Amino acid sequence: MADAGKKGNGVVSTAVMGLDEEVGGGIPEGSIVLLSGTPGTYKSSMAFSILHDAAHKKGSVGIFLLLEQSMKSLLGQQERMGRPMDATAKDHIIVSDVGRIRAAMDKFGTDKDWMTALKAYVEYLVNKREASLLVIDSLPVLEILSQEKNRREFLFDLFEWIRSLNTTTFLISEKKSLDMDYGEEEFLSDGVFQLTLSPVGEVDLQRRIRCIKMRGMPHNTSMFALDHKDGSFRIVPAI
Ligand SMILES: Nc1ncnc2c1ncn2[C@@H]1O[C@H](COP(=O)(O)OP(=O)(O)OP(=O)(O)O)[C@@H](O)[C@H]1O
Ligand SMILES: [Mg+2]
Repeated sequence: MADAGKKGNGVVSTAVMGLDEEVGGGIPEGSIVLLSGTPGTYKSSMAFSILHDAAHKKGSVGIFLLLEQSMKSLLGQQERMGRPMDATAKDHIIVSDVGRIRAAMDKFGTDKDWMTALKAYVEYLVNKREASLLVIDSLPVLEILSQEKNRREFLFDLFEWIRSLNTTTFLISEKKSLDMDYGEEEFLSDGVFQLTLSPVGEVDLQRRIRCIKMRGMPHNTSMFALDHKDGSFRIVPAI
């Protein structure tokens, strides 16, 4: 099946039932989208689900750079959630954890610094596999690995490089609480989804999502409850 294409004017689905409609139809291709949230709020799962959905529905190829956890742990959870690495997923989703990235760095020059080698590796994958989707999980870990002292400079360089790839890119970032000040990355990104666990009454917590930014789209900024059932995400009105 043909790849969804990275130069088209189409959209990429959020793969969350009901959410595309709330962002004006989907995520414009070529966007850089931040999935920002508190711990355990399905950031990695939502990003993986976008790649899994696009692979099966559009034949899109996606790269998942996994810097925070092992491939075994991510894929194990995705399988239990109903997104197995079946033949289509294996063919279209390239998951690389730190171990794999380090091994690939030998090929792209160990004399170079980590960031230069990582960029060369990703560019190689994007071109060779004609990938239209990229996930970086996560931005804070990439920042640490880059050893760049100047955060602004690191982010400007990173965003410029991502734009040159022409992929629709999902950057996972962390927040201790959604009340924290916005960082440079919120301003640089084309779209921002916030994910959180919010108290419901005195004893319960509810996972929630809202889109606070999607350049070029008439999106809703309301908070929705994020549910996961039978292998897919969906939004329902927040309690
Ligand atoms: N089989 C499952 N079905 C549904 N939810 C699950 C399942 N297994 C784990 N979870 C939930 O998924 C959460 C973790 O999901 P995920 O790793 O996508 O979140 P995250 O936001 O990326 O987390 P982190 O902050 O650790 O990176 C766990 O906190 C757990 O509550
Ligand atoms: Mg995660």
